[in-house]
Amino acid sequence: MSPEAAAPMTAPAVRFRGARPEDGKAMWQLVGEMGGLELNTAYFYVLFCMDFAETCVVAEADDGRLAGFVLGHRPPARPEAVFVWQVGVAPWMRRQGLAARLIEALLAQQSTPARWIEATVTPDNTASMKLFRALARHHGVPCEESDFMDAGLFPGDHAAERLFRIGPLTPFQTQESSS
Ligand SMILES: CC(C)(COP(=O)(O)OP(=O)(O)OC[C@H]1O[C@@H](n2cnc3c(N)ncnc32)[C@H](O)[C@@H]1OP(=O)(O)O)[C@@H](O)C(=O)NCCC(=O)NCCS
Repeated sequence: MSPEAAAPMTAPAVRFRGARPEDGKAMWQLVGEMGGLELNTAYFYVLFCMDFAETCVVAEADDGRLAGFVLGHRPPARPEAVFVWQVGVAPWMRRQGLAARLIEALLAQQSTPARWIEATVTPDNTASMKLFRALARHHGVPCEESDFMDAGLFPGDHAAERLFRIGPLTPFQTQESSS
């Protein structure tokens, strides 16, 4: 049985909050256990939650378990964008809209509203592609997809990364997304 198939019929309640350095360890553990995302060092997750807290959100289950997280940053060269660097959902919470809600929570906590959501996706990641296309549909804006990082930039057999660019969003849309 796939992890997604094992998801309960009724989704456990989760609450969204800004990430804290104390969340870094659980993120590192979740990414290590679930696969599908490149595992960075624990130090990296802790540092990201510390220095990019405004663009990092966690979803916490009632029992305190990490249900999912999103880590992003505002690229200095494109400050109107929020770049989703990693979004991960625990296998027991998948296919219940959590990833989309995490990204909406991320948008809602920006002190300067983002006009664009950006993310890179490898062509084999169907769930991720669907997630970003669905976000664009939800906001009624285009999702532009283009070549971004060639496979040759990476060691080993890393696939090329396509850029998904969603927008332009209005401040009204990003504030609305908090509800
Ligand atoms: C990608 C991921 C974050 C999606 O999380 P999720 O909470 O299950 O996603 P959602 O429930 O919000 O679903 C978003 C869309 O993806 C689709 N989807 C989700 N899982 C899917 C799967 N395994 N296969 C096909 N489609 C899938 C949903 O149907 C939905 O599309 P729709 O709105 O057109 O119906 C999750 O599968 C995950 O953590 N994967 C491993 C890490 C990863 O690949 N992260 C993304 C790259 S940074």
